[in-house]
Amino acid sequence: MMASHIVKPDTRNCKRPRELEPQMPESPQLSSLGKSESSFLESSGLFYKDESLDKDLNDMSKEINLMLSTYAKILSTMESTHQKKATFGKREKLPCIAPLLTTVEETPQMVSAQVRGHFPKWLSGYLLRIGPGKFEFGKDKYNHWFDGMALLHQFRMEKGTVTYRSKFLQSDTYKANSVHDRIVVSEFGTLALPDPCKNVFERFMSKFELPAMTDNTNVNYVRYKGDYYVSSEINFMNKVDIEALEKTEKVDWSKFIAVNGATAHPHYDPDGTAYNMGNSFGPRGSCYNIIRVPPEKVDPGETIHRAQVICSIASAERMKPSYYHSFGMTRNYIIFIEQPLKMNLWKIVTSRIRGKAFSSGISWEPQYNTRFHVVDKHTGQLLPGIYYSKPFVTFHQINAFEDQGCVVIDLCCQDDGRSLEVYQLQNLRKSGEGLDQVYNSAGRSFPRRFVLPLHVSLNDPEGENLSPLSYSSASAVKQADGKIWCSYENLHPEDLEEEGGVEFPQINYGQFSGKKYRFFYGCGFRHLVGDSLIKVDVVNKTLTIWREDGFYPSEPVFVPEPGASEEDGGVILSAVITPDQNENNFLLVLDAKNFEELGRAEVPVQMPYGIHGTFVTI
Ligand SMILES: [Fe+2]
Repeated sequence: MMASHIVKPDTRNCKRPRELEPQMPESPQLSSLGKSESSFLESSGLFYKDESLDKDLNDMSKEINLMLSTYAKILSTMESTHQKKATFGKREKLPCIAPLLTTVEETPQMVSAQVRGHFPKWLSGYLLRIGPGKFEFGKDKYNHWFDGMALLHQFRMEKGTVTYRSKFLQSDTYKANSVHDRIVVSEFGTLALPDPCKNVFERFMSKFELPAMTDNTNVNYVRYKGDYYVSSEINFMNKVDIEALEKTEKVDWSKFIAVNGATAHPHYDPDGTAYNMGNSFGPRGSCYNIIRVPPEKVDPGETIHRAQVICSIASAERMKPSYYHSFGMTRNYIIFIEQPLKMNLWKIVTSRIRGKAFSSGISWEPQYNTRFHVVDKHTGQLLPGIYYSKPFVTFHQINAFEDQGCVVIDLCCQDDGRSLEVYQLQNLRKSGEGLDQVYNSAGRSFPRRFVLPLHVSLNDPEGENLSPLSYSSASAVKQADGKIWCSYENLHPEDLEEEGGVEFPQINYGQFSGKKYRFFYGCGFRHLVGDSLIKVDVVNKTLTIWREDGFYPSEPVFVPEPGASEEDGGVILSAVITPDQNENNFLLVLDAKNFEELGRAEVPVQMPYGIHGTFVTI
């Protein structure tokens, strides 16, 4: 098998691409920008003007909060998409990847890996990864990839050697399902069915019981006050002893602050202060809340004590807040993107009665534009600027920074927000033409830059680009109503379309988060799961690619070499898996500069396709 190392220059005309021109109101969604804020809201929700319903909502808000927590598990990745003309993929004869999306056994005892090539001696630590690893209990089967029980993976590197082990997270959900040998707690795409031992009346009435809340936190490792937790987007997180790979404590966000949960992608200041975002629901409707968690413990037993909500942003539609998976942060600002991927709260809270899974309450509504909100993270003040762009969906921001009075934010973007359905397990496990059809119906994800001028005044001219940044073709045009219409710059060469776009973006976070930067790393998606590793130079717009046919690499994690001063001075780690039973899975280490393989550590253990991870120095 050959790995390819390709540097692909940007072959496009360097002039501003056509889609970067200001998008003046010409479509129904754009014309709504000219309306007053109230008419905009009124036209968008059934419940906005109903006073009696408002009163009912007040009374129900507590209940709704509780139920939202249960269901607030939303996707997580969704990586795939598209953009431009090539919105969807066009591939055929895709190999079946079903073995990567089936239940595996845990490997609790450390297994020594066989190292080929070498792992740098300075590389000493854990690559911790997490993702779904068990997809049925008894005769009950989960429907969606996100539903699977969390499996914790640990690759331990020290003095050139590598060991591996994995354990299922001993969440209350996992334990309850195991005891009953059936699915007793609903997940994102799976509604737990009533106990078959109950009689018909009891089973009917059980639809009206408050469902147990899942604590199957299977998306990412996050860090608060030096401790590691596994998180999804629900109200619960599970604190983990990363050495023993064991859960030590279950933590509930709603016990500390008024939120229903928080994302699995917090940001960190250099001093360890963590920022995150979570939703709440009250008498005035849905709010998006910015959370700050201090870096240090006052008491050794603390978890997220003294967390604060520093800003609440009202949802454009009170009963249909947008789904978001991450957000941006510069040195001084938080950037929140309110996108037209909506959560219908009524559908969600009534899903059990309707016999539907939580996922049935999420809808892509491209009749609305995407809006950017900018918040001063020191004061909690929401800036007055109103920034819009045409509808898109983003799951992962790449980086953001400030320059010449602007916020620059780079995102992996999809123009079609319906990719959640694609990740039903029955889709992922298809083969032949059926699999090709699924892939070709999924949007792809491409990196884009938006520029948001921070100081817009009444005197600024209408219809002109307010961005002063000569190095970016992204534009920000003030409209007659004072709002700023933002058009993006592509951060990649056209060649990226052949690679199926890019997702799971990672940077040299320690040194370049919130700062002007040049490189990010991600997975290419010529399949429904990542099938290559890509280094993107966002300045020169070139790609460097690692690929090995039949193997599927995980999110690339950058680890800086101690003392290195260059942005890409370090290595890339990725867990590479294959559905071929005759081949071993392995941990790959690449030189981050040129993407040449330094070594691989082969492990004769079956591993499912995972979601996110992190590196922790020993
Ligand atoms: Fe994610």
